[in-house]
Amino acid sequence: MYDAKEEIKSRLPVEDVIGQYVELKRAGRSLKGRSPRGVNKTPSFMVSPEKGIWHDFSANKGGDIFTFLMEVEGITFKEALEKLAQRAGVDLQKYGGFYKGSDRKLAEKKSRLKEALDLSTKYYQACLARSKNVLEYVFYKRNMNRETVKTFKIGYSPASGHALVDALGKRGFTTEELNDAGLLNRFQKDLFKNRMMIPFFDTDGQVIGYTARILDKGEPKYLNTPETILFNKSRFIFGLYQAKEAIRHSGFVVIVEGNMDVISSHQAGVKEAVATSGTAMTEQHLKILSRLTSDIRLAYDGDAAGVKATERAVELAGGLGIDLTIISNYHGAKDPDELIQKDPKLWRAAVEERIPAVDWLLNKYAETLNLSQAPDKRKYSDLALHLLTFVRDEIERATYEQKIAARLGVTVEALKEKGDRLNREMAISASKKYYKKPQTEAKTNQLKKLVNDLLALKIYGRVETPEIPLDAPTDETKLAELELVYRSNYENIPDFNPSKEAQNLLDRLDKELKKAEIAKLQTKLTELDDDDPDYENVLNELNQLLKS
Ligand code: UTP
Ligand code: MN
Repeated sequence: MYDAKEEIKSRLPVEDVIGQYVELKRAGRSLKGRSPRGVNKTPSFMVSPEKGIWHDFSANKGGDIFTFLMEVEGITFKEALEKLAQRAGVDLQKYGGFYKGSDRKLAEKKSRLKEALDLSTKYYQACLARSKNVLEYVFYKRNMNRETVKTFKIGYSPASGHALVDALGKRGFTTEELNDAGLLNRFQKDLFKNRMMIPFFDTDGQVIGYTARILDKGEPKYLNTPETILFNKSRFIFGLYQAKEAIRHSGFVVIVEGNMDVISSHQAGVKEAVATSGTAMTEQHLKILSRLTSDIRLAYDGDAAGVKATERAVELAGGLGIDLTIISNYHGAKDPDELIQKDPKLWRAAVEERIPAVDWLLNKYAETLNLSQAPDKRKYSDLALHLLTFVRDEIERATYEQKIAARLGVTVEALKEKGDRLNREMAISASKKYYKKPQTEAKTNQLKKLVNDLLALKIYGRVETPEIPLDAPTDETKLAELELVYRSNYENIPDFNPSKEAQNLLDRLDKELKKAEIAKLQTKLTELDDDDPDYENVLNELNQLLKS
């Protein structure tokens, strides 16, 4: 059956969809560009207009326009389908399959809530225009200019407590709908009262919620929309809609703590700024951003929460191929907003003046310790070595080992000896499991590349089947993608011998699988108690593997 997916594909050329995110240049029958993940500076991203597919050689991923949008926007298949259907002018309701019944109801509900939020935003904007004292707050106290107020759709929620319910009620919205949009309090009246309203935009520029600042002193300073079917806090990135183009264009993103820092930064010309709510950055946030660029700059406070958040980011960054740096020179200001009020030029300079996150943390650790004393040297090396477990590159790690050893006045060997001991101890402590995760991801990625290359050799290099014990896929998109892999890997190699290459790759695959097995056993070991009867068996198995 000809389904919605095919209809959308036939209407939207792959190069048009991808071209909005990646600058593509023609290269023979395909188009080439830089990976939207930005890990490689070389054109490692290929698109085949004939086949309607893409393949990213730096991430070993590929597929059609749907998988592309899922990747680059960090959305689900259904969301990608909805977006592209809308762009292609395809009415999904006419098609059966997975887009029926409750899904359709949910989509209808979402669009109704977005209408309510669109209207409430316009209402709040109108209220701002009418309130002299709030205008003063916005334009003079917060120093926003007209353009900023317009692009961020800043508004004001009246103090009455029922102004919005009344206004939207008149336009046919039920209490239930307003409640589901996150606009009401538990008394079914206005949640936001007498606050400056800052909308949350989704990646299409639709309002999905608000953060609302109190005008004077009081608690809470910011009141936020609760989780709704539109607003998911752990995925939402403030300012991304307004920053996306700048991030793609300049190739970096700045993560600040406050939403007001984002707004000021954009006004100061640094439109690459976004915020996760406070320092609560999640893996999903980083993943979404890492698809746009690998150059991620954090502008957090140097306080304990900032250090914690930075450690967490370092932990996640290694596995995502992220180049993480810290912006820390605020010239005495408490946050980017305050610095910008002082002088926007200083902020623009600060964004360029950054140091690697690991160096920054190593300096932070030293600040509170007395490194001339042995016990503090122990504490410092505990922290530093733990941090180094997330630095995957050997050269980078070796460089840090030298720095740390020099700082402590010990030999690199002594430091490494301790590192080895900690690693051994960690392998049998439950925490290891948690910290291992990003590394496992990178491993899976390597395996995927090997398998892709082998399949490409099998199908398009015509290497005999028994040599490659992998089943060829039957899915058309995957096949086309493998052809692209084959052409781009091997087409231009003179006297290319597919069988020999296959043998090399198979050897490597064996090794990788063995490593994966070892990692699995190590993880298992951490989950077992020392006196568990299985513990001995797993340990033996592990030792066997390590010896072989
Ligand atoms: P800050 O208190 O640092 O905000 O909180 P800020 O941007 O400097 O605020 P201004 O300049 O005083 O207006 C940083 C972030 O933490 C979250 C918000 O996302 C805020 O942007 N936050 C803070 C809340 O959600 N609620 C609060 O009550 C306070
Ligand atoms: Mn501030």
